[in-house]
Amino acid sequence: MEKIKILVIGAAGQIGSELASGLRQRFGNDNVIAGCHRTKPSKILLNSGPFEFLDCLDAKKLCKVIKKYKISRIYHLAAILSAAGEANPRLARDVNINGLLNVLEAAREYECSVFTPSSIGAFGLSTPLDNTPQDTIQRPWTMYGITKVAGELLCDYYFERFGVDTRGVRYPGIISNVTLPGGGTTDYAVHMFYEALKHKRYTCYIKKGTYLDMMYMPDAVKAAIDLMEADPSKLKHRNAFNVAAMSFEPEMLAAEIKKHIPAFTMDYKIDPVRQAIAESWPNKMDDSCAREEWGWYSEYDLEKMTRDMIKVLSKRLCKNRQERRRNV
Ligand SMILES: NC(=O)c1ccc[n+]([C@@H]2O[C@H](COP(=O)([O-])OP(=O)(O)OC[C@H]3O[C@@H](n4cnc5c(N)ncnc54)[C@H](O)[C@@H]3O)[C@@H](O)[C@H]2O)c1
Repeated sequence: MEKIKILVIGAAGQIGSELASGLRQRFGNDNVIAGCHRTKPSKILLNSGPFEFLDCLDAKKLCKVIKKYKISRIYHLAAILSAAGEANPRLARDVNINGLLNVLEAAREYECSVFTPSSIGAFGLSTPLDNTPQDTIQRPWTMYGITKVAGELLCDYYFERFGVDTRGVRYPGIISNVTLPGGGTTDYAVHMFYEALKHKRYTCYIKKGTYLDMMYMPDAVKAAIDLMEADPSKLKHRNAFNVAAMSFEPEMLAAEIKKHIPAFTMDYKIDPVRQAIAESWPNKMDDSCAREEWGWYSEYDLEKMTRDMIKVLSKRLCKNRQERRRNV
């Protein structure tokens, strides 16, 4: 049997860095090529397997890398996220749409399968916000959301029209303890952990009572790997599967953190752009299609995720402090 060769584009990003590690553990270090752009890859990523500098807007280089390593599966994670996209809509359009088109064209030419994540950002104010269905109204108002809807449709198109094996999920806000988030609206959840551990206080830019879907990184990595390994004959949707794990508002996360750090306090300074984006996103998605079609389930709820985040981050911050003291 021919070995699977995987290219991860955007491998230094929040999801890409941990997905690349997860894929290397599963399929072997040499079979997973980390494609990175401006974000500096971690030492672990650089030293654990092949690395290429890769701009998804450079179609020629992309094809060269695919040919060089005989790539058969692409995880395309390069994107400009919601808040960063509102700061630079033209760049978001270029990277999120033209970059994806380059990947889909290359996948068509070299017969690769492609995983592309969509997002809760693909919904809008006219979408039902509670138990948001798999197939529903999608009228986002952000450039990020517009590019994500276009991406979902383009992936469907390349499957229907050219038979490219495209698959994808709509990720909620992702919480991780390795790479810091890259300019999204749900980043507050990650920041809250760091600030609680470092300063026992946090100023939140999202209003009290604003519910959003969130997911812990191990579940996000599991979703990406499981969907690409799923039996294609069972997939009715293929792209943009709703996947959910937990839904909370800032006070609920703060209360959970307080169980571990009783002195923790939180106040608010609302960012109107990110608040408006958050209000147009679902409170909680219905992920029954993913459950039925490829057996999706999440392993982390709010309580289990918080316990793990605090454990991992406190260990790391303590180690960093000790190293700094040694170097003084
Ligand atoms: N993190 C989340 O909460 C979240 C939620 C929903 C969906 N998603 C989706 O998941 C994917 C990955 O998100 P992330 O959080 O890891 O983002 P991120 O911003 O952390 O990482 C994206 C990476 O893409 C790279 N990049 C930017 N322009 C590029 C280009 N022209 N060519 C190649 N690489 C380029 C950046 O250097 C960065 O390393 C995106 O499609 C995003 O829309 C993320």
